[in-house]
Amino acid sequence: MSTILVTGAAGLLGRHVVRDLLAHGHAVRGLDRRSAEEAIDWYVGDVTDPDLVATAVAGVDAVFHIAAVPNIWSGDGRAIMRVNLLGTHIVFEAAEAAGVGRMVFCSSDSVAGYTVREGRMLPPRYAPVDLDHPLMATDPYAVSKVMGEDLAQAWALRGQSVVALRTVFVAYPEMAGEIVARAKDPEGYRGPMVGGPSVAGGGPLHHHIDPRDLARAFRLALELDMAPGDFERFYLSARVTLSPEPTLDRLRRLHGDAVEIRAPEIWAENPFAPLYDLTPAATRLGFVAEYDQRHLLAGLPGFPSGD
Ligand SMILES: NC(=O)c1ccc[n+]([C@@H]2O[C@H](COP(=O)([O-])OP(=O)(O)OC[C@H]3O[C@@H](n4cnc5c(N)ncnc54)[C@H](O)[C@@H]3O)[C@@H](O)[C@H]2O)c1
Repeated sequence: MSTILVTGAAGLLGRHVVRDLLAHGHAVRGLDRRSAEEAIDWYVGDVTDPDLVATAVAGVDAVFHIAAVPNIWSGDGRAIMRVNLLGTHIVFEAAEAAGVGRMVFCSSDSVAGYTVREGRMLPPRYAPVDLDHPLMATDPYAVSKVMGEDLAQAWALRGQSVVALRTVFVAYPEMAGEIVARAKDPEGYRGPMVGGPSVAGGGPLHHHIDPRDLARAFRLALELDMAPGDFERFYLSARVTLSPEPTLDRLRRLHGDAVEIRAPEIWAENPFAPLYDLTPAATRLGFVAEYDQRHLLAGLPGFPSGD
């Protein structure tokens, strides 16, 4: 059993992660601007408050750093940089001072630069997008995750072992209405129409991951065999997208021949496979998603019934 500090523990993802850790016998502390109903020790306040963070990390075995302004719609560029960069620096600094060896940083596939239409979103150079693909973030949120990973790597070089999880859009149960609304009118959809905490995301290819799977990935990152100084990154996604169009058809329709297809067999075998290379997650982290949400869309235009 380990003791883990989860920042952002009262958020949509944080609560899934907390429940998964508790279900697997770990002791959990939560740091967030508010508390939630999970019966854990809560440290309520701002993640940029060094005293609060130092108190919260004292004596823990690992930190899952999840607190963030989670997209470009939830705060302007300055708020994103303050919370996502300064907060990350303060969490890693406090963890090092407290002797915490394992850090898991909640990153995003937005680092690749292919998630939101605002700004100058460039198509990927090639597919699958792997860990060698250039990071082409153009919006403040995506840049904050690129720089957050840079910070995380710097702290790893000083002796922590750090995992950065580049998750795609998390399809929370609260988002089901938005996911269906977008699938009914993919070109006309412009954000929350049926409630839900934010717009249906996942970028032009409508990637998604189930929060139960993502919570498991965090736990696997906790258990990963690593040496001090190691820094590892993983793209994480469900095995299929939420798009009515097969992935390569959609890439060609949106970008012509601009995206070099390096491993067409991936999509020959699974036409709705995501853009990202999930091999490191499978082989190194031991993570293959168990869930997907395509069943929400069965019978809608472009989606076979029972798909
Ligand atoms: N939701 C997605 O589709 C998605 C995709 C990729 C990555 N992520 C990342 O996942 C993580 C969790 O996002 P989420 O979907 O649960 O969003 P969320 O808004 O539900 O959770 C974020 C939590 O962080 C807390 N927080 C924000 N600013 C804080 C501050 N200054 N001090 C203390 N706590 C603060 C919030 O109160 C909230 O509980 C974030 O790091 C986000 O960038 C989310």
